[in-house]
Amino acid sequence: MPLPIKMLAGAMLLFSLSLHSQSMEIEQKVEELLSKMTLEEKIGQMNQYNGFWNATGPAPQDGLAADKYEHLQKGWVGSMLNVRGTEEVRAVQKIAVEESRLGIPLIIGFDVIHGYKTISPIPLAESASWDLEAIEKSAAMAAKEAAAAGINWTFAPMVDISRDARWGRVMEGAGEDPYLGSKIAVARVRGFQGDDLSSPGTIAACAKHFAGYGFAEGGRDYNTTDVGTATLYNQILPPFKAAVDANVRTFMNGFNLLNGVPVTGSKMLQRDILKGEWKFDGFVVSDWGSIGEMIDHGYAADGAQAAELAANAGSDMDMESYLYVSELAELVRAGKVDEAHIDDAVRRILRVKYELGLFDDPYRYCDAEREAEVTGSEELEEAALDMARKSIVLLKNDNDLLPLAKTGQKIALIGALAADNNSPLGSWRIAAEDSSAVSVLQAMQFYEGNTITYEKGADVAVGPVSFVMETKINTTDKSGFDAAVAAAKGADVAVLVLGEHGFQSGEGRSRTELGLPGVQQELLEAVYAANPNVVLVLQNGRPLALPWAAENVPAIVEAWHLGTMSGHAIAQVLYGDYNPSGKLPVSFPRSVGQVPMFYNQHSTGRPAGDQPGIVFWSHYIDESNEPLFPFGHGLSYTDFEYSELQLSSESVAVGEELTVSVKLTNTGSRKGKEVAQLYIHDRYASVVRPVKELKGFELVELEAGESKTVEFTLGREELSFYNQKGEQVIEPGMFSVMVGGSSVGGLEAGFELKATEN
Ligand code: NOJ
Repeated sequence: MPLPIKMLAGAMLLFSLSLHSQSMEIEQKVEELLSKMTLEEKIGQMNQYNGFWNATGPAPQDGLAADKYEHLQKGWVGSMLNVRGTEEVRAVQKIAVEESRLGIPLIIGFDVIHGYKTISPIPLAESASWDLEAIEKSAAMAAKEAAAAGINWTFAPMVDISRDARWGRVMEGAGEDPYLGSKIAVARVRGFQGDDLSSPGTIAACAKHFAGYGFAEGGRDYNTTDVGTATLYNQILPPFKAAVDANVRTFMNGFNLLNGVPVTGSKMLQRDILKGEWKFDGFVVSDWGSIGEMIDHGYAADGAQAAELAANAGSDMDMESYLYVSELAELVRAGKVDEAHIDDAVRRILRVKYELGLFDDPYRYCDAEREAEVTGSEELEEAALDMARKSIVLLKNDNDLLPLAKTGQKIALIGALAADNNSPLGSWRIAAEDSSAVSVLQAMQFYEGNTITYEKGADVAVGPVSFVMETKINTTDKSGFDAAVAAAKGADVAVLVLGEHGFQSGEGRSRTELGLPGVQQELLEAVYAANPNVVLVLQNGRPLALPWAAENVPAIVEAWHLGTMSGHAIAQVLYGDYNPSGKLPVSFPRSVGQVPMFYNQHSTGRPAGDQPGIVFWSHYIDESNEPLFPFGHGLSYTDFEYSELQLSSESVAVGEELTVSVKLTNTGSRKGKEVAQLYIHDRYASVVRPVKELKGFELVELEAGESKTVEFTLGREELSFYNQKGEQVIEPGMFSVMVGGSSVGGLEAGFELKATEN
């Protein structure tokens, strides 16, 4: 029975009072500890080292590892990353806790980006589910497995908005849209951190890379970012702000310059916006070596100045530049860094350690029995499979070629990726066993009613495809083509699994071409010529430009890098045991020349239109302005119809809410899910607004023939924007509303936003 409102309010009050007293208690403990610390010990908390030697073996005697070991003993290390497994973590924690003067526990960080050992889909793929509950659960599962291995802090979620498919780290984010990106940021933070950070199944999250990293010029990783205030505030910052509102405990800055200043040294971002305006009370870690890189940027003359600039700007922890530990004490003594800044950073770091419960029991994440029980458990695999199915996007399905019949079919399965157990793990899977993913070939064999002939056709890459990226793309070897063509000829349908190897996207993997790497495009065309009944399954970590395939191939399934359970998820979709419902969180371009491509553009003064023979409008003379597949696009094995778009009023005053409703009907013959999307256009404003902005969505499941009225609310948050001073404003005027199944088309209506009376 639900609690009466009064009792509920009372319970909530008690809960928030107890949270308040808990945090008061933590603040007191932090102050007490801080008052006992020497300057060097304080700076030690701001120092993070990478895992360095076999921690369970003998102590290192010389070299860098010996220095790091000694620093641990002195209490000069606050955190370590890339130490994993309960035994290893316990060993380093023991040095910090038992050998240093104050025994302050380390916080152990790791890149748990999409799963720890059990790998879920790459974040971009998960984002294609638009299923916030599933995304939250996926992060919670990752946290559970990582926490069981001794880890208390993940460097995720990456909440960088990315509009440039050339950038390799598109795979690590939630795509191009700040609204969807914000919702997903919140889901991921909640998933990792849960309700109780001190529980041994949750870990601290980290919103990164603050800020602008995804807007690297030319899509080249680590390159400069130069954006105006409106873009910074309206596109880049919202997911970070949403993460702060969801109580994310840490932030990471980044490698890039933002408008001329390295973000690691940006006081404006870290002190003024994040810790000032947004009142963030967690801590900021630098990116790997990014404090030292300020010298390469030409912002700092030497290491001492780099440390000074970073500390003064509000960068609280130094990841692997070794500059805080070597320079900060002297800088404080020389009056170049105020000790109050050091105290502030240390308070933030200690606060998070207390919240994690590390002071109560520094080994609470080091239970070997729990590690054995949780790692790779059935629960984790089931969740990874569920997330993988939900991440798949059906891009095209002419003549209902899919789903495939389960019996009596001869299927030619073609492509190196079809039999690959490593690539589907994608980039960022450090703790996973190599080649531990289920391949499409393995999973298809569970459907025993059909005959499968597998042919590789061509390699995606030759040479070791490894973390250090020694990959060479196979651009010449077509020796497998004949066999692939022969298999296709004798088959009812050819399923080609093509795309990028898991290590062809990710950090440092920018591309100038967005086609299928190597000779795969030629393979596709050769197979299609032999048998046009082609299903193309794409595995990739970024949008690809595949105009030929989009025009000719009847069925295309976007299957990204889906993790451990990849093959099963793909097979279940191909055979219709799972009805796909994913929608693209990024636009797919027709050509690399259109990049950056994103749906929420501004109109030019010479907008695109059908103006044959006229040259002077905003267009390309050799390609259309349109995407190949738009943001929000994705099909199902059933059909959906939108009707009866209604607004609660034709006008609404600033501060009031408007309700938009639409009837959604499953007009097909099977149950399915649809993501109903609402976009607005603020038709004129003091800072020009995009032609479309996503402001609401709902994932709806309907039986065949069933209808549901979907409602969206538009209020101050949805109708406001940031002006060129970075102020959030809401301006009266005319708005359009569009509701449909993607960012293109849909039903339209309009309303007026009026100024309030007073
Ligand atoms: C560099 C990456 O940019 C960052 O995202 C990651 O968390 C760190 N390396 C640590 O591995």
